[in-house]
Amino acid sequence: MTDKKLWWQHGIIYQIYPRSFMDSNNDGIGDLEGVLQKLDYLADLGIDAIWFSPIYPSPDVDFGYDVADYCDIDKKFGDLDIFDRLIKEAHQRDIHIILDLVLNHTSDLHPWFKESKKSKDNPYHDWYIWRDPLAEGVPPNNWRSVFGGPGWEYVPELDQYYYHMFCKEQPDLNWRNPKVRESMLNVFKFWLERGVDGFRLDVFNMYFKHENLLDNPVNRRGLRAFDRQTHLYDVSQPEMIPLLAEIRSLLDSYNERYVVGETFLADAQHAIQYIGPDRLHAGFDYGYAHCKWDSNQFADEIRKWDALHVPTAWPNYFLNNHDTPRSATRYVKNEEDARLKVLAALHLTVRGTPFLYYGEEIGMRDIKLKRSQILDPVGKRYWPFNKGRDGCRSPMQWDQQVNAGFSQSTTWLPIHPNYMQRNVKNQSENPDSLLNFYKTLIRLRRSHPALYKGSIHFSEGISEKVLNFVRLTSEEQVMIILNFDSKSHDFEIPGEYRSTSWEVLYSQHQCSGEKITNPKFSLAPYEILLLITK
Ligand code: NOJ
Repeated sequence: MTDKKLWWQHGIIYQIYPRSFMDSNNDGIGDLEGVLQKLDYLADLGIDAIWFSPIYPSPDVDFGYDVADYCDIDKKFGDLDIFDRLIKEAHQRDIHIILDLVLNHTSDLHPWFKESKKSKDNPYHDWYIWRDPLAEGVPPNNWRSVFGGPGWEYVPELDQYYYHMFCKEQPDLNWRNPKVRESMLNVFKFWLERGVDGFRLDVFNMYFKHENLLDNPVNRRGLRAFDRQTHLYDVSQPEMIPLLAEIRSLLDSYNERYVVGETFLADAQHAIQYIGPDRLHAGFDYGYAHCKWDSNQFADEIRKWDALHVPTAWPNYFLNNHDTPRSATRYVKNEEDARLKVLAALHLTVRGTPFLYYGEEIGMRDIKLKRSQILDPVGKRYWPFNKGRDGCRSPMQWDQQVNAGFSQSTTWLPIHPNYMQRNVKNQSENPDSLLNFYKTLIRLRRSHPALYKGSIHFSEGISEKVLNFVRLTSEEQVMIILNFDSKSHDFEIPGEYRSTSWEVLYSQHQCSGEKITNPKFSLAPYEILLLITK
């Protein structure tokens, strides 16, 4: 890895789900002007980049992940002028902008698809994956949609099926068509020229399907027909690698641009194949976000993911996103924040780029919805086995005012009932709050090279419940000690680090700068201790 300080490598990336961050025009849905109003909040939090979930025109069947125009802003969020202002004002605060590119599929209302389904000889027909029935009423193969039902939708006017991995309103593009490829590279250029700093590629390893559209083997157990298949032919085809090289070389022709990919149905070993100097800068892995409350599991997942990145790539970590129940809901049953501080300390000190999801810094919990309130197509289809993803998408809780200060009108999803206590304003005023803990740790991280760029070393066999590792550069070492338990635990500085003299960098109980004179000490429940030596 280069020694240059790169924003995407050493910084923190904050995901905004735009419908839910801040509503400036009181229509109940967040917008870009709202984000502009909150830029100082984000600068003060100390983040380096915002990743926006899709803000393009969309009929919102999948809330923006069904794009009807790749080169514009949806009216509900603003327009290109506001977006340009946002880039400018964000850059003035050293905040970079990352857009979500959803290029595997479009909305069925995208003009390309509307043309495509007009006739078999329409110039756009081959921009999507169309096939004749195998026999009357028999789709071209056994592929299923991950959102439920067959992956093929029949269009009687053409007597053909088109393929969709997600909703039927999200037809998959035919990336084997050079015109699709060229148009998509132009989409990158359009946003790069506007000053966008990076992209998150939605399910990029699905762009190519096997060219003969072979049946997937049905050989697994699973609730959904989709899960009972081994997805050999509908995802992760080798053609993706040269395409990534082309995308990367386009990005590298601009200054310090970044591309991170969401790898679908891929474990860490597989995801890493798409990361490197001639492909993505980074990719996501769910191993860490799926850990139980178990320090050893976290350590194992970090070790595994980290080792795959040595020496040329740089890992990243996320605990939350718009598809996953929030970590506060996964790990905590009540309104306590002690565990969340331990988790934040881990997340902000591990070697790699931490991704935060709006509201994570105040410990927002998922909302609970009745069936009639569900909006997400996944929840609508799979209720009650899977209640969908609305829970983690509720509006940001800013203060105690109506609708948590998010909007004056009825909000698109309900506000969490805990907002009177749990909101940005309350937590800003409380020195012991989770929000102030995030700010403290982010500041420490920014000012210590060991924390933002150091190597990571775990010590073996410390304790079941205590996670301990050291971050190291030639300038300094920082030891991170995290008690994952609600009980006190004895701790001993591991043998290999005894000869160094340590002092407190961060503690909830001791003053910073205090020397550690005895290598054996007791950790309070959920204690977080950072030691430093120079
Ligand atoms: C992955 C996105 O994260 C998810 O929210 C979306 O529904 C699907 N891709 C389809 O675009």
